[in-house]
Amino acid sequence: MSTVSPSGSPRIRVALLGCGTVGSEVARLLTEQAGELAARAGAPVELAGIAVRRPDKHPELPTELLTDDAAALVVREDIDVVVELVGGIEPVRSWLLAALNAGKSVVTANKALLAEYSAELFEAADAAGADLYFEAAVAGAIPLLRPLRESMAGDRITRVMGIVNGTTNYILSAMDATGAGYAETLDEASRLGYAEADPTADVDGYDAASKAAILASLAFHTRVTAKDVHREGIADVTASDLAAARTLGRTVKLLAICERVTADDGAESVSARVHPVMIPRSHQLAGVGGAFNAVYVEADAAGELMFYGQGAGGAPTASAVLGDLVAVARNRVVGGRGPRESAHAALPVRPMGQTPTRYHVSLDVADRAGVLAQVAQAFAAHGVSIAAVRQRDANDTASLVVVTHLAPDAALQSTVDEIAKLDVVHEVVSVMRVEGEDA
Ligand code: HSE
Repeated sequence: MSTVSPSGSPRIRVALLGCGTVGSEVARLLTEQAGELAARAGAPVELAGIAVRRPDKHPELPTELLTDDAAALVVREDIDVVVELVGGIEPVRSWLLAALNAGKSVVTANKALLAEYSAELFEAADAAGADLYFEAAVAGAIPLLRPLRESMAGDRITRVMGIVNGTTNYILSAMDATGAGYAETLDEASRLGYAEADPTADVDGYDAASKAAILASLAFHTRVTAKDVHREGIADVTASDLAAARTLGRTVKLLAICERVTADDGAESVSARVHPVMIPRSHQLAGVGGAFNAVYVEADAAGELMFYGQGAGGAPTASAVLGDLVAVARNRVVGGRGPRESAHAALPVRPMGQTPTRYHVSLDVADRAGVLAQVAQAFAAHGVSIAAVRQRDANDTASLVVVTHLAPDAALQSTVDEIAKLDVVHEVVSVMRVEGEDA
């Protein structure tokens, strides 16, 4: 509950859970910009407690604010808002549910938790009349979730597609620039501090899949969890894939793609997927280098929108957290609430196999009569229409590149499996989905 300051305004008292890279920036900005934030929020926003695992490791923080007992801090009588920057599922889920049940509003950057348990958290927030804000959970500093939740609440979003993981974008950009393979580029990224000591969540696509679930849920007013998201990471992307892409004026990016799919009978579903994609070098996402993030949103009335900026890092992520904190504080001051969960559409989630995609297939084949016909026959047998074929000869071998029209992903996979078994195919050099070109 808010207490009353000497000025007569309510004070908004904040519990901070976690004080690492982002938390320490939040604490710094809350202190340094206290006057400005108070003016914007309509009341002083005060740090009232900081829960960390080892208080003795934080000599830079006021001792009287530190505790190692997050569970007690989140339900403390004087706390209005809990800012969670710890990450992971448990014990954070229990802390945040306890906080919401006690009527505290929550600001969190925890994408893994939201991608699994946002329905439960929203229900607890609703029951208590509290707020749940999470702008920093997707694409760091980039204002993206508030536009989806609020600015575009009157539009019909059809697609959200973008680069939402900086680590993988850094690695793929470096592979593209140097021609090096995945393993050595990951090693270099780790050495330079661009990849975590354990990069699994990033390189295997878990981080991006959590973000895709959050984006799809907001964009399509449907509960989409991480389990609904088809996920492929970048560990299998080879120097050959990048070389094949470069030959054709393309590059490779790990994209999160969330789409509203309308069947022939008009029935709508949603699909959410994360996988490496070939895109034309002229595409705006191709120019997003290093650790930056960028997301395209397409909507019926708005048309195409693009959001670009820093997707990680202490200060950029703290910017999004503080924006949420000011919004929550304002709501407390005026007695209102921010947006609740919007899942009324409840559209079915389409499995990846039925999701329409396009493939780029690069093959080394025997260079003799009838080879192209055999390859083309394999596509035709699976109902896959070819959009373009390109052939380059070298001695007895030809390098063949086939780009398809849209077809169900399962049909494309089956086609590639069959082609790989043809005697005339020496090697399947590269198989990659294609986006950003006219089908
Ligand atoms: N690990 C993420 C990335 C940042 O590499 O973009 C936090 O979401």
